Amino acid sequence: MELKRRPRRLRANETIRSMVRENHIRIENLIYPMFVMPGEKKKMEISSMPGVYNYSLDEFIVALHEVIELGVPAVLLFGIPESKDSVGSGAYHEHGIVQQAARLAKQHYPNLYVITDVCLCEYTDHGHCGLIENGQVLNDPTLDLLAKTALSQVRAGADMVAPSDMMDGRVAAIRELLDKEGFSHIPIMAYSAKFASGFYGPFREAAGSTPQFGDRRTYQMDSANGNEAMLETDLDIEEGADMIIVKPALSYGDIIYRTKEKYGVPLAAYNVSGEYAMVKAAAANGWIDEKRIVLEALLSMKRAGADLLITYHALDVARWLREER
Ligand code: PBG
Ligand code: ZN
Repeated sequence: MELKRRPRRLRANETIRSMVRENHIRIENLIYPMFVMPGEKKKMEISSMPGVYNYSLDEFIVALHEVIELGVPAVLLFGIPESKDSVGSGAYHEHGIVQQAARLAKQHYPNLYVITDVCLCEYTDHGHCGLIENGQVLNDPTLDLLAKTALSQVRAGADMVAPSDMMDGRVAAIRELLDKEGFSHIPIMAYSAKFASGFYGPFREAAGSTPQFGDRRTYQMDSANGNEAMLETDLDIEEGADMIIVKPALSYGDIIYRTKEKYGVPLAAYNVSGEYAMVKAAAANGWIDEKRIVLEALLSMKRAGADLLITYHALDVARWLREER
């Protein structure tokens, strides 16, 4: 056979394969989401997310030690408050659970990069991401509360804020208040392309944030829409977003690719709770090779264009990457 081109030549062994490998997962790119709650000596496993816990603050600090040891540079914090109300006051309280966690984390580990999720749904009794009137999620009145939430978080020491609510104009509202209060140096990582998704199920179990009526389709995007993701990203960058998030990640590789190609800003893919739960369940049954599948899935996000990976697998990934060195 006279074949001029034989791609297999460059696949002959691991040495040459690794020499020509195009994409890599690096520890520096990992962001580990964590859940904090009130109380003491509590470390409650989330049943649909084996290996992921709700921590009381003392246990949170213990857990952070491992995050640091493994070299994972950043955490994304979510809070489960003592009590919820209709206006989500726990989200913007000076001594709210996330504010306390951010303060403690920065005291113990000044170099840990602390990112806080900005939303109301973990703190509202109705479970929606905004204020409610006559069964509708209000947009503009919610903006003030989101901005207050972000401000209280950076006052507590957060290095970066990540609004996940999907209200129109939230990035502008947050940017304006942060700038006014002397925090013009704090970046915003916006969940720009966030879709209404069945893949958030386990997270909502963890945060107790399932909407008590209706669903999130009036604010999160329709999963059928790609062009709309471009509009959302456009608006967020226009309003001052420094980085963007595409969420979920696994079924949205096209969105990662398109937004990265067009906007070029640093992009994080959020490998969400349901994606984690599926892998864990199949692995527990011995149906798949967990390490192989996790690394392959995360690599697909990088290949699509993601710079950063927000993943509940972060600690395992850090361990695996270490073993390979
Ligand atoms: C809050 C928020 C959610 C997630 C991140 N921030 C839940 C939702 O929008 O319902 C999902 C994270 C995950 O599923 O891992 N708005
Ligand atoms: Zn929310």
